Amino acid sequence: MTSRYTAAKDVFVDSIDINDYIELNSAVTAYQQLQHSMDKPLKMILLFGRPGTGKSILLNRIANKLKYQKEIYYFDTPAINEKEFFHKLFKVLTKKDLPKNTEVNFSALVDFCKDLRGKREIIILLDEAQMYGPEMMEKIRLLSDTRAVKFVVSLHKTDDEDLIAKEHFQSRIWEIIELKNAQKDDLTTYVHKKLLKKNLFEIANSIKEKNMKLIHTFTKGNFRETNKLLFTIFEICEYYDKNEPSKINYENLPQRVIEMAALKLGYIDV
Ligand SMILES: Nc1ncnc2c1ncn2[C@@H]1O[C@H](COP(=O)(O)OP(=O)(O)OP(=O)(O)O)[C@@H](O)[C@H]1O
Ligand SMILES: [Mg+2]
Repeated sequence: MTSRYTAAKDVFVDSIDINDYIELNSAVTAYQQLQHSMDKPLKMILLFGRPGTGKSILLNRIANKLKYQKEIYYFDTPAINEKEFFHKLFKVLTKKDLPKNTEVNFSALVDFCKDLRGKREIIILLDEAQMYGPEMMEKIRLLSDTRAVKFVVSLHKTDDEDLIAKEHFQSRIWEIIELKNAQKDDLTTYVHKKLLKKNLFEIANSIKEKNMKLIHTFTKGNFRETNKLLFTIFEICEYYDKNEPSKINYENLPQRVIEMAALKLGYIDV
């Protein structure tokens, strides 16, 4: 027998699928800021935020929404090496493939871009930019100086390292947009809409305000942490549904189940 909670659990598998994108107040603001900045004559824009705040999904969303209006490209996890990155960039800029074992002539590429100025306006969304080294960032900057290519650089912020402070990011970023963890209301919308999109109305309704308060306390409004917690909550529900259905309350999610999940994930110390 499959449990109704199996589907609910699957809703919270961490993934970047723009079909699952949810309009949240915080994301709408960041989205508009980003779009606004992209229309300004800026060479680089920084999208900044802690892991799991929704940077990748926002970049994907923007690339998809603007694909018919702008020449916009999303670059996901950085290529393993510089050569691969410039091959990819070469292809995007020249619309031609380079044979596998040839190196991109960088200064020729810069000249090519200078020629494009005023003819094409290319936007490149660079996700996970903390993985690009100083030399690559320097080259990216040189390309942006031609003003034919604009870069949106996405960086994640960690406690032990202030990446913006790094010299190669500092001097060249003209506008900064920060994504933050969600407030309780936005997080509630997120959880409910994710479930409703999959027609899981009853389960969505079983998550009450006090549940969301507790969930928000544990996850601090981080989307990735919330995904993990919700997945674990429904995993526990699924177990009871299959093995001890008498113990399940389908109308109200018990706070105890949230605590059990939090314990399992190490949010609570024993
Ligand atoms: N507005 C949203 N609509 C739907 N899902 C979202 C939204 N914002 C965040 N998420 C979900 O939250 C999770 C984390 O988001 P994402 O991977 O974009 O974070 P990130 O900031 O890129 O993290 P990292 O710095 O680790 O790369 C993903 O599963 C994503 O689908
Ligand atoms: Mg990401």
